[in-house]
Amino acid sequence: MNTLYLVYPKKLGTIAPEIYGHFSEHIGGVFYDGLWVGKDSDIPNINGFRKELVEKLKAIEPPVLRWPGGCFAEIYDWRDGIGEDRPTRTNWWTPYDHRYESNEVGTHEFAELCELIGAKAYFAANLTSVTPLHIRNWMDYCLSPRGTTTLAKEREKNGHPEPFDIPYWGVGNENWGGGGNMTPEYYANEYRRFATIMRNLSPMQMFACGSDAFDYSWTDGFCRNLTMASKNVMGRLVDGFSMHYYCGAAGDPVAFTEAEWDQMMLQAGKMEDIIERNWHIISGYGLDKNMKLVIDEWGCWHPDGSGPSKGYNLFEQQSTMRDAVVSALTLNIFNRHCDKIKMANVAQLVNNLHALFLASGEHCITTPTYHIFDMYKGHKGAEAIDAVFTADDGKLSVSASEKDGKTLVTIANLTYGEDIEVMLSGVGSCIPEKGIIRVLAAEDPHAHNTFDAPEAVKPFTVEADLTKPVKVPAAGVVAVEF
Ligand code: AHR
Repeated sequence: MNTLYLVYPKKLGTIAPEIYGHFSEHIGGVFYDGLWVGKDSDIPNINGFRKELVEKLKAIEPPVLRWPGGCFAEIYDWRDGIGEDRPTRTNWWTPYDHRYESNEVGTHEFAELCELIGAKAYFAANLTSVTPLHIRNWMDYCLSPRGTTTLAKEREKNGHPEPFDIPYWGVGNENWGGGGNMTPEYYANEYRRFATIMRNLSPMQMFACGSDAFDYSWTDGFCRNLTMASKNVMGRLVDGFSMHYYCGAAGDPVAFTEAEWDQMMLQAGKMEDIIERNWHIISGYGLDKNMKLVIDEWGCWHPDGSGPSKGYNLFEQQSTMRDAVVSALTLNIFNRHCDKIKMANVAQLVNNLHALFLASGEHCITTPTYHIFDMYKGHKGAEAIDAVFTADDGKLSVSASEKDGKTLVTIANLTYGEDIEVMLSGVGSCIPEKGIIRVLAAEDPHAHNTFDAPEAVKPFTVEADLTKPVKVPAAGVVAVEF
């Protein structure tokens, strides 16, 4: 048996609610037939957005939603998405994607979605194919007070007199790849140019394009070049470093083997190392005060074709208990490193990689990953506390936090087939005799939800006697609250 010590005097920092953020790109079925069904649809909707999805998403209290990409952001012209007559364009993903971009969802619709679900908006601005003035005008359109500028008046004419609430702006996306194939030095110069023009209009937070997975040379090159100009000035021009880490694939999304399960856990666990190494570099340049980590794309990236659309929706994948355990493991890592992380956005919300929802026509179901976000929501805004196992054999992942006198401990069992018992013990505070435990587990690690069996995987709640060990089922996750 393993004992888990909750070391109450050792606080790790406050868990920013935005660590539980989401990402929605104009790609495949994320918007069209996913989030957006259109105002005239027979499918129940709120001003065009799928009602069932809006309600289920709201229930997990999403703190922030990133938009419009991804790669799509780097060819997006915000003017296409406002007003009555909207052009149809190629998407960044054309011809891999079967859809053309109708621009039915634009700035107003997206901002309204954020209002509906109670999330803050995070706009990813195009750095590759427009000018800084173009983005500044978008900001003017969105943020200028009612009745002031010509663009604010245009916004009013289009139905929104008051400014939109958009506190976060990304400056480019994956500029080491789809966003212009830049070197870190070139990107740092471009960042300076855009960020200076953008910040001068508004004090909103700006995030620079960070590294891809293990590419620390990007982090080093960007920080070096940025601080060459003037550390004091540049430190104030950047509020976040947007890194991406997809832990990839290991076998089939659904019919994986036990060895492939283990492989996936190993790949997902690398997130911790990536966070630590990037943080070392950022701190070395003295940028750690302002520039915290924003992991604005993360998740598994399985081969296409396993989702309900059978490959029609680009990147749509089925999501099993394995993806749920990867989610739990990743969120535990974020909680433990909350002193370094400002935001994280799982990619992507619906009908795509590591999704929380699968939807089409009248169907709308939640994946096992959705339930992890629900079970973990008590961590948002809480103080992370240190939690250590006596036997640290890599079979379990944990994080713990305390808020308003309540403790939440989330434990993921990373093994394919071994139930593990864990005894909770407090340092600096006693563990009460009784608690509530929510469990997400299935007989079979391949279990997943489908349109025909939408509740094959869902959590259950039990009252627990905490004087006895807590059972963490194989390939399962528990959330203990007391
Ligand atoms: O999430 C899909 C794509 O993955 C995004 O558009 C891009 O930023 C990343 O490469």
